[in-house]
Amino acid sequence: MPQSGSPCKRSQKPFFTLVPTIFCQHAYKVEIVPAFENKLDNRTIEENMKKILAPMATLSHEAFRRCVARFGGCDEYFTEMINAGSLIHMGPFEKFYLMSGPEPEKIVWQITGSRTDYMTEAARILSEREGLGIDINMGCSAPQIANTGAGVAWMLKPLDETRNLVKSVKTASGQKRLSVKLRLGDENFTEEKLFDFCKMLVDEGVEMLTLHPRTKKEK
Ligand SMILES: Cc1cc2nc3c(=O)[nH]c(=O)nc-3n(C[C@H](O)[C@H](O)[C@H](O)COP(=O)(O)O)c2cc1C
Repeated sequence: MPQSGSPCKRSQKPFFTLVPTIFCQHAYKVEIVPAFENKLDNRTIEENMKKILAPMATLSHEAFRRCVARFGGCDEYFTEMINAGSLIHMGPFEKFYLMSGPEPEKIVWQITGSRTDYMTEAARILSEREGLGIDINMGCSAPQIANTGAGVAWMLKPLDETRNLVKSVKTASGQKRLSVKLRLGDENFTEEKLFDFCKMLVDEGVEMLTLHPRTKKEK
């Protein structure tokens, strides 16, 4: 997928992926992520593949991860999206969102929110927990998320506003890998706009991108 001139040159760390899914039923969704970073190594694409449990609200929780683990497990487990504001104010359900079994070292915490200060504080809190990374949700287009300025709304704000968010979350994430899950954009997206957006993310230190290759309106 990445061509020269794209934001994902081999010299840079991030890898970029479409998200083909196996086990098409949502309840068993596992995303396969080819690590393009390594594509020139003497290994097959299959050897470079990682099995990653997709972030899925109401599904990607510890109970489900335990089931997945019994069927061979994954290399990484994205959590359900965690609302940054609720996390920092420790809402009544946060203790469930913060469960990280059965393999805490493989957890990627996904955060969502519309405010840079809340997202930053949430990243700081999560950076102190076990887990391999923090993921910013820039892909959710559900009206109750996108209409508040969270999820895919970050792709549609002025670029510098989103750059500030990423910069701030990156600093707060410490040693944890920072990734972003995104969509193509809105219905007027162009490849150029998408790549410019990805380039900005990479320039700000995002180390992995997951593309859900649909527009804002597409379900
Ligand atoms: C029930 C459900 C919940 C989801 N929750 C999230 C979420 O919390 N964060 C996120 O980035 N994507 C979420 N997604 C999107 C998936 O991670 C994935 O990118 C998408 O479903 C892939 O497209 P497909 O359903 O056509 O295979 C969710 C999808 C489903 C079906």
